[in-house]
Amino acid sequence: MTHPQPAPEPPTPSSVDQLARAGGIRLYGSRFQQNPTHLYSEMRAEHGPVAPVLLEGDVPAWLVLGYREIHYVTTNPQIFGRDSRRWNAWDRVPSDWAPLPYVAYQPSAVFTEGEEHRLRGGALHEALAGVDHFELRKQVEQIADELIDVFVVRGQADLMAEYALPLPLLAISRLYGMPESDAPALVRDVMASGDSGEEAVRAHERVAARIGGLVAEKRRRPGADLPSRLLAHPIGFSDEEVERDLFLCMGAAQLTTADWTGNTLRLMLTDERFALTLAGHRRSIGQALNEVLWEDTPTQNFIGRWATRDTRLAGRVIRKGDLVVLGLAAANTDPDVRPNSYADAVGNQAYMSFSHGEHGCPYPAREIAESITETAVQVLLDRLPDLELATTADALVWRPSVWMRGLTTLPVRFSPA
Ligand code: HEM
Repeated sequence: MTHPQPAPEPPTPSSVDQLARAGGIRLYGSRFQQNPTHLYSEMRAEHGPVAPVLLEGDVPAWLVLGYREIHYVTTNPQIFGRDSRRWNAWDRVPSDWAPLPYVAYQPSAVFTEGEEHRLRGGALHEALAGVDHFELRKQVEQIADELIDVFVVRGQADLMAEYALPLPLLAISRLYGMPESDAPALVRDVMASGDSGEEAVRAHERVAARIGGLVAEKRRRPGADLPSRLLAHPIGFSDEEVERDLFLCMGAAQLTTADWTGNTLRLMLTDERFALTLAGHRRSIGQALNEVLWEDTPTQNFIGRWATRDTRLAGRVIRKGDLVVLGLAAANTDPDVRPNSYADAVGNQAYMSFSHGEHGCPYPAREIAESITETAVQVLLDRLPDLELATTADALVWRPSVWMRGLTTLPVRFSPA
């Protein structure tokens, strides 16, 4: 007599680690520096909308390349959470891992979830929405004029180091109601804190001390500024919580807005559709800003979300605690959503560049970024009407980062004044 055999166990699906190692897609290195769009379409063709990848140090993660899939992930925070402490690969992360600042849990609005995020994020949203854009644009005009005054006599400049990079931080210092005399030191310290070594640590401490002093001052003497609005919010923020959110906004605004400015100027200086209208047609600035968010968005890939339980995404088995990286740049060129080139996207603002859902870049923050960037480009073109690139378009070098897309330098020349 034969006994019935037990049904075979279904095969255990491979983990993201095994798949990433077998597939060998490394989401780092110089390959991504010049033409990442091409690489994303290759990855999509080979792996579909969700690909197993290895981040720096061969840390495994899922990269979501599909627009619809990112939409799904970001609108389902109960499945794809924001709190990084649930990551199942912490033991693989070295202490000097470059993306650690984006991943290490901090008690700021970014890593909160559920009701807590609704309250904290909501308060931040309201405080950002209180910004007077007429006043902001006036302040940015003044900042832009002062930066241009420094190099206008030379007839040449590096628009990244001398314009696009310092400008957003100077604008943020005005939104924070900082004394204007403190702003240059803040810019120096924030830039220095991005390097490594002892001096970077000291620079970071000076930034923290400045923000701490600012919050204490605004508690004593409130003004029409972001810190005062946060302190006055009925939620009852502590000074420490306000400091954290001011740090968060400064970090979220600086390089993103700088790269949006730099990438827009690059487009206008290298593409003859814009070159023809550089001096005269204001409308083209808005088109260039929009095109950059589709084609060369500042935040290319974003870490991230962590699965709260085992689940499936585009047929992939995602394990509880797996890291999911949002491939925002890849989503913008997803052929399912955008079959042709930018020609079909003019005026369309459905890009994923600011992400989506309750943790997406807050709408008032997007408007702040737009006021800063648009004014910065406008003032520059008004002041330097014969502005041109001082090198060839091909010689421009992108920074070697898979996370942010921006130029190392943007050398230009113009008639000195
Ligand atoms: C071109 C400029 C900018 C870009 C491309 C950008 C992009 C992003 C992205 C991709 C995220 C992550 C979304 C996610 O987790 O799904 C984010 C979050 C955030 N951004 Fe922006 N951002 C920009 C400017 C700004 C500015 C100017 C501010 C503030 C003044 C700001 C404040 C924030 C904040 C507070 C968050 C966290 C939201 C949360 O977790 O609740 N951003 N941004």
